[in-house]
Amino acid sequence: MEKELLIPRENIQRRVKELARQISSDYEGKEPILIGILNGVVFFFADLMREISIPTKMDFIRAASYGSEMKSSGSIRLTKDVEMPVRGQPVILVEDIVDTGLTLTHIVKNLESKGPESLRICALIDKLERRDIDVSIDYCGFKINEGFLVGYGLDYDEKYRHLPDICILK
Ligand code: IMP
Ligand code: MG
Repeated sequence: MEKELLIPRENIQRRVKELARQISSDYEGKEPILIGILNGVVFFFADLMREISIPTKMDFIRAASYGSEMKSSGSIRLTKDVEMPVRGQPVILVEDIVDTGLTLTHIVKNLESKGPESLRICALIDKLERRDIDVSIDYCGFKINEGFLVGYGLDYDEKYRHLPDICILK
């Protein structure tokens, strides 16, 4: 399959720094728990956490929805839950890309039932094309209208995750 450069690594790093600066200022005096949604988020998560200037904690959740297809299967299953106690804590959920919004909605419900002090969402990419459920993203890296993206953690059938730039698959 052909791929075309969409967001070069320099632009990703610049935007990650801006998001981190915003989060550091909004959470001044607090120690939020960053909860990453595995696996796609790993590079974004690592870069973001290192750019945030206030102390943060880390934990991860894993949800299964995509197989080898380019669209959501519609059913989401948590295959790994958070391990850190989140009750009464400020939580920032970190996601790579929001498409239909199904995955995020499912995870937000799960986390809210654990009673965090607050819950905000940080997503590297907001894909507007196929949104089925309204989700409000508090910290958004890039908005794109359509297309299937790979690289910087994003995969197609477990391929292309290692690419340093974000590309569009043709
Ligand atoms: P949603 O439930 O439809 O919002 O799908 C979200 C999940 O699907 C993301 O966490 C990604 O893992 C995956 N996904 C959605 N769009 C893309 C894409 O363009 N490239 C790679 N993965 C994607
Ligand atoms: Mg994901």
